Amino acid sequence: MDRLKGKKILIAITGGIAAYKAPELIRLFIKSGCDVWAAVSENACRFVQPLTLETLTGRPVLLDDFTLLDGGKIPHIEASAWCDLMVVAPATGNIIGKTAAGIADDLISTLLMAASRKPVLFAPAMNSRMYLNPIVKRNLNTLRESGYYFIGPDEGEMACGEEGIGRLADLSCIVEKVKDIFTEKDLRDITILISAGPTQEPIDPVRFITNRSSGKMGYALAKAAKRRGGRVILVSGPTSLSVPKEGITLIRVKTALEMEREIEEHFPYSDIVIMAAAVADYRTDTPFPQKLKKSDKAFQLELVRNPDILYTLGKEKTRQTLVGFAAETENFEENALQKIRDKNLDLIVVNNVSLPDAGFEVDTNRIMLIDRFGKTRKYPLQSKDDAADAILDKIIKIRKKTKGEKGPS
Ligand code: C5P
Repeated sequence: MDRLKGKKILIAITGGIAAYKAPELIRLFIKSGCDVWAAVSENACRFVQPLTLETLTGRPVLLDDFTLLDGGKIPHIEASAWCDLMVVAPATGNIIGKTAAGIADDLISTLLMAASRKPVLFAPAMNSRMYLNPIVKRNLNTLRESGYYFIGPDEGEMACGEEGIGRLADLSCIVEKVKDIFTEKDLRDITILISAGPTQEPIDPVRFITNRSSGKMGYALAKAAKRRGGRVILVSGPTSLSVPKEGITLIRVKTALEMEREIEEHFPYSDIVIMAAAVADYRTDTPFPQKLKKSDKAFQLELVRNPDILYTLGKEKTRQTLVGFAAETENFEENALQKIRDKNLDLIVVNNVSLPDAGFEVDTNRIMLIDRFGKTRKYPLQSKDDAADAILDKIIKIRKKTKGEKGPS
């Protein structure tokens, strides 16, 4: 269900040093199933070889507007009609200014003028003093108001050695933004509360109890829900992952008690709650204040139960659609159905964590969805991004089915 499969992307590369990243961006689009056609400005050719782009895309690179295509076709008319979306990456201050002023005096600016009915994404990249120039700001605002999309720029070290805002956005974020533009906004005005990752329960200042969760499934859900127009609150245990800042409120926690506090705070006004976190079931009552010294004797640690957050939400729920996860190694359906009843869930996502390509840490998952009506569906091995969309599709179906009901009994 990859949203980019078969999409035709026209990538316009303008003449900033970040142009050296364009071949990698093209590769990412192709990997996502897109058909890519590249256009390069005269100055961009100094940074990136047309041959590289041609080899990657398998299409003749557009270099100027006066070399007609096969059949005498005019490049800017043909390419702008061909594409589903145009990406300008990197977009220099120059091309931003020209587009805002309605100038079409070379290949890229003419392509942009001709692509007036297509979505266009600009990924600006320039020195921060250029980016912060009030004229550039004014041009960016003009383009935003006219419906052009933007991603970045990011802050950090720039090619010229200076620090500041102006770096080309992370390439995977550019691809994510394009997915976002193509996605139907079927979660608009819906608030989705998601928990993700493991929790860490301290034993002493340097040790803790945790479990094997990377947070990848919960983060994929957050990104998919955001793409689909939802307001997303992501309560995350410690992970090394990141999510786009725009549209996702990320709240970082460490322990189950901290997670419980945050989830409880945001639960009352949420419409959909997905507990994808692998919450530790036990913690030490009081962590040792100093690092424990090892000795030759056996050592016993007394643990107390953590609250079952999902169970409490099941008791408190009014209109929320409540979704739990079950990481199982045996009796999948039986255990999952019991969990739906015990925790008053609308849907449970079952992971067979005994398989090497599903569940913890990996990028793929083999899920089974069981709803509160007992309807079961098994999905083949798929990326966690696709699994996230399948879960959200199912949640939307359940919400349509139960519209008007006060909530499950
Ligand atoms: O009962 P079990 O731990 O298998 O249930 C898993 C589901 O319950 C997951 O959705 C997990 O996020 C949630 N859970 C919780 N609080 C806990 C343990 C699990 O909310 N203490």
